[in-house]
Amino acid sequence: MPRLFTAIEIPADVAQSLSTLRGGLPGARWVEAENYHLTLRFIGDIDDALAHEVASLLGSVRRGGFELRLDGLTSFGGRKPRAVVASAQPAQPVIELQAEHERLMQRVGLAPEGRKYTPHVTLARLRDVSSRAVADYLATRGGFRSRPFAVTRFVLLSSRASVGGGPYVVEAAYPLQARAVGAQVGSG
Ligand code: 2AM
Repeated sequence: MPRLFTAIEIPADVAQSLSTLRGGLPGARWVEAENYHLTLRFIGDIDDALAHEVASLLGSVRRGGFELRLDGLTSFGGRKPRAVVASAQPAQPVIELQAEHERLMQRVGLAPEGRKYTPHVTLARLRDVSSRAVADYLATRGGFRSRPFAVTRFVLLSSRASVGGGPYVVEAAYPLQARAVGAQVGSG
């Protein structure tokens, strides 16, 4: 059973700039640059028949592309930090795309995602790292800002069943069409 999720890919040069943020936080497990991604909808371990249904239904998404940048670092988990992440801006187009994936996944019978969605790229996973150490790290590195980049497709990724983590495999890719040009006003 593949472990699946939908995601937005990070361009190689942006991943390269993100990877300069690795280090300086003892106990952190840093994500490898080639494994950076922005998760849209975590699907989990499902059987092949359902995976095919999911892959096909995702093809019904009709949406325009948009520009995104990674702007600012933060941590998740509060006083028990579990991840250092880069925030994606603007969040709205990502949230709308994620919401559509959420609707589609519920249509195939998957349980609703209970967690509030915040678009981010995980840079490090943490265990037994103090919130003070994370705050110190963020004080020096938290102002990171990537170049803006065009999001022209989303992907269905798989990771090793049950285990998770990279390397990830692109199982399918779905274009986000350029926005339709609006009707001209006042012509003729
Ligand atoms: P994260 O980046 O915030 O950790 C692939 O495993 C992706 O799906 C990860 O990037 C992870 O998001 C997310 N993910 C992993 N397990 C999850 C779970 N049980 N629920 C929701 N998202 C999960």
